[in-house]
Amino acid sequence: MKARLLPEAYISEEWFKKEQQLLFRPLWQFVAPKMLLSKNNAFVTRNVAGINIVIQNFDGQITAIENICLHRQSPLQTESNGIRPLICAYHGWKYSSDGKVSNIPFQDSSYRLTDCERHSLKARTFSVYCFGNLVFVNVSENPLAFDEQFSLTELESLRQASELFDDEVLVTTFHTKMNWKLVYENLRDALHPRFLHANTVYKQVKFQERIDPSDFNNTKEYINTKTISREEHFSVLRSFSGGGLNEPMPNMPTYAWHQFVERYGNDDWYLNWLVYPNLHIASGSGGYSFIIEHHQPVSASRTDLIVYYVTGKKKRHYSTSAAVLLSHIDGAEKVLREDIDMMEKIQAALNADSPSACLGDFEYTNQKIERWYLDVMEGQHEL
Ligand code: FES
Ligand SMILES: [Fe+2]
Repeated sequence: MKARLLPEAYISEEWFKKEQQLLFRPLWQFVAPKMLLSKNNAFVTRNVAGINIVIQNFDGQITAIENICLHRQSPLQTESNGIRPLICAYHGWKYSSDGKVSNIPFQDSSYRLTDCERHSLKARTFSVYCFGNLVFVNVSENPLAFDEQFSLTELESLRQASELFDDEVLVTTFHTKMNWKLVYENLRDALHPRFLHANTVYKQVKFQERIDPSDFNNTKEYINTKTISREEHFSVLRSFSGGGLNEPMPNMPTYAWHQFVERYGNDDWYLNWLVYPNLHIASGSGGYSFIIEHHQPVSASRTDLIVYYVTGKKKRHYSTSAAVLLSHIDGAEKVLREDIDMMEKIQAALNADSPSACLGDFEYTNQKIERWYLDVMEGQHEL
């Protein structure tokens, strides 16, 4: 069946801006694993729906604040993560957890702001939700309930797995030249690994595309129904996020470090969770370690892939833990590169006259997301 999304949806900056407004602003989005924010003054900076945000720990409280100084618009934090009080580096204005300016050096001698001016200085703050060790932000003024976007039952196994994440995290960022939708469509395509990853991950994990008959029929009915109720619209949205045991790994290798960390579950299986719109978490070691892939759209043809590697909680310190995380990068990057190279080639080839995609039945989840997404973009349902 012809895809409903035209090439424009992947290449047009105008489309991208509309998408930021209609889709990303109302939705909860993953911003970081909580372990990066566990210490006082620990922070990450992220772009959520076009807004630069700093998410920072203030004496244990995690707060999301617009990352722009109210004096001369300098970013308050300039690194993507770190530990530093929320003080602007330009002239030293200091901010508190409610976004208010708590100190202005040389206020009395140089700025001479009135009390009224001082008290009205407040940076925008945004809603934060911690789900296990996963931190989400919503930039809308009236955020939808977290459990309206996500089924907590479907994501319970992810919450439990995240509670086991260790504090030692390795972070790398890929600045890719592709539209974010190519990433999520690729993640929901279980047929490509036998071709694209034939010499890497497919050797260990035989990913199978599955067509669940009742799910398939419901999806077909949904995509052919003209008018969808608000309840159904949200129920479809919730069906985009979930996961857990994905495929068995009969010859899963065992490493010495496994004995030093807690394991999620007890199955020699590949674990895989997808969280719409911007998060993918997997474990290729049967729950001893995890890769967290976080997709941050930058423009129509740019997406930052922030990747975090973490093992299960250490039962005790062991000297090779940093090397263990580095070895994960080696393995995972090969597979990631295979995907990124393909997506970048697709992105580079797309133009307004390109033919639309032709989706098969096994791609019914992507067909469902297309229908839902276009309802949002065409203003059928406000989120
Ligand atoms: S721009 Fe931030 S203190 Fe001046
Ligand atoms: Fe892939």
